[in-house]
Amino acid sequence: MKKHSLFTAAALLTLSSAMVMSLVSSCEGPEGIAGKDANESCTQCHKSDVVEIVAAQFELSKHSYGEAAFEEAGTVGCAPCHESEAFKYVCANNTPVTFTKNETTGKYVNDYSVPDDKAYGEFACNTCHSSLHSAYDSTDFYPLTNTAAVAMTMYGGAKTIDLTANESKSNLCVKCHQPRPLTASLKDGNVLNYAALAASPTAVFFDPANTGSTNVLNPGYRTHVHYGTVGAIFAGKGGVEFTGSLSYSNSAHTTVASCQDCHMAAVTGKAGGHTFNAAGNFKGCNVSGCHESAPLDASSAKFADTRTAVKTLLNTLGEKITVNGVEVLHKNSDAETNMWTANTTKHFDGYLDIYDPALNPTGLVKNPAPGKSWTDEQKATNSALQELTLTNAQMGAIINFQLCLREYSLGIHNTSYTKALLQNSIEALN
Ligand code: HEC
Ligand code: HEC
Ligand code: HEC
Ligand code: HEC
Ligand code: HEC
Repeated sequence: MKKHSLFTAAALLTLSSAMVMSLVSSCEGPEGIAGKDANESCTQCHKSDVVEIVAAQFELSKHSYGEAAFEEAGTVGCAPCHESEAFKYVCANNTPVTFTKNETTGKYVNDYSVPDDKAYGEFACNTCHSSLHSAYDSTDFYPLTNTAAVAMTMYGGAKTIDLTANESKSNLCVKCHQPRPLTASLKDGNVLNYAALAASPTAVFFDPANTGSTNVLNPGYRTHVHYGTVGAIFAGKGGVEFTGSLSYSNSAHTTVASCQDCHMAAVTGKAGGHTFNAAGNFKGCNVSGCHESAPLDASSAKFADTRTAVKTLLNTLGEKITVNGVEVLHKNSDAETNMWTANTTKHFDGYLDIYDPALNPTGLVKNPAPGKSWTDEQKATNSALQELTLTNAQMGAIINFQLCLREYSLGIHNTSYTKALLQNSIEALN
């Protein structure tokens, strides 16, 4: 993937090294460092084995090469997780994730957004290290921009994630890597009542015949909990917890491991360190206190069998969410556009296979809310498709499927919780 900005971390650092050299040689430095030896102070970091080596790793990170920061600039509700300045703003101001009722419209509004002039900034070192260039010494890398407990936006703040291993550094990651809310858009716009889905699985959630009465939202191709579901699964919080044969508990990772332990382990190839990539890097697993005595690799049962079992559960659940035999979940076998292609046999991507002339023209399920701008032909295509109805069990199963597919690791993040969500959802559909 190509990066839009000319200013890659490496280019910036090369530039900054040159600037530092000129600042150092003229014995000047940025304001605020009076009394410090600029040369010694700056070169603590501006040398090849500190900032520059990290910057080289960071170039391999999707935080750096990903395009989302470019695409989402200016969008105030997306910016808290996609724009550097916005992230620092919501952390510094402790912006609430609550929903507040607008008395004029009678609808709830998501408070998790930033002012227009903060909705920008590609990810860089100071996204996570917001104190850089304050003391001008090595202490500047800390504190991290956030280590406080994270109120879950999916729940409008009613649930909180607090991962305390490794000085709560995971809370930095989870602030962004958490699911987003589904809302009762046909009703008051508030967060969907997920507990009600689990409590009455056989009740009708959606039926086009009920228009305007009991339906709370019109399902569409992109009715989903977003992409960054890891935080919820890792913490063992936020799924639709149907009663079933498995109880909801967490694997050891939730309390003993941090995101950094696996994703920022010693560098191996293109993984580890500031690449933030865990794929194929077992160095973080095989440390003292963890799997040192029985080291893991890709073929170890603990790793391979867990993933196979979770993949089987995803396959079973995904294929079970049907109306009149038509599968409701969307499939996409292109690994470029579906990063979860390999995680199920049918290549589900977590979207719904609901017709949309622009987003999903080959959809198998009828869109309950045809667009006003659709052509007659598009409306006719839609009308001929399988009509969509959903029970609470099916809606909850869709949410749980999305959470467990998109946590990506096939259960490594939190095996117990993942298996319970999937197995109990399968049973709820029986
Ligand atoms: C704690 C480590 C650290 C120290 C000490 C430090 N820098 Fe930096 N500096 C960085 C990092 C990391 C970046 C990259 C910033 C980014 O991309 O967000 C940077 C970037 C820069 C830049 C590029 C412009 C910018 O702000 O993005 C300049 C110029 C610079 N530093 C000058 C200095 C000077 C002069 C000193 C000494 C007075 C100094 N730095 C001390 C870590 C440090
Ligand atoms: C400011 C928000 C934010 C923070 C903080 C953050 N991430 Fe991310 N992360 C993102 C976004 C957004 C993407 C996707 C970027 C894109 O596609 O352009 C991403 C991508 C990733 C990816 C690559 C996923 C893929 O699709 O291949 C990994 C792995 C990752 N982050 C891990 C971490 C870890 C570990 C931490 C904590 C050390 C962390 N992130 C902190 C927002 C964040
Ligand atoms: C609560 C934090 C959060 C908010 C708010 C958020 N996102 Fe994201 N988004 C993420 C994270 C984290 C990822 C990366 C997940 C991964 O790759 O594992 C992501 C990924 C994406 C991707 C996929 C990028 C890719 O690599 O293909 C798109 C597109 C996207 N977001 C768009 C949006 C839009 C549009 C909005 C606003 C309507 C938004 N996001 C709001 C956290 C968020
Ligand atoms: C997505 C968040 C994120 C970004 C972006 C990021 N870092 Fe870090 N960095 C971390 C975390 C988390 C740690 C702590 C890792 C640990 O405890 O294992 C860390 C640790 C460090 C350390 C080690 C500090 C110490 O001595 O303990 C250095 C140096 C560093 N980062 C430099 C950089 C530079 C330079 C950049 C930009 C090229 C950068 N970081 C970008 C999250 C980030
Ligand atoms: C016990 C080790 C472990 C811990 C702890 C861990 N992860 Fe992962 N993570 C993995 C593995 C393994 C994968 C799958 C990597 C693969 O196959 O590409 C993964 C995948 C991911 C991905 C998908 C994208 C990718 O390409 O790597 C994201 C995003 C991610 N983890 C974020 C996090 C966050 C955020 C945390 C902390 C809340 C975390 N992880 C904690 C092991 C871990």
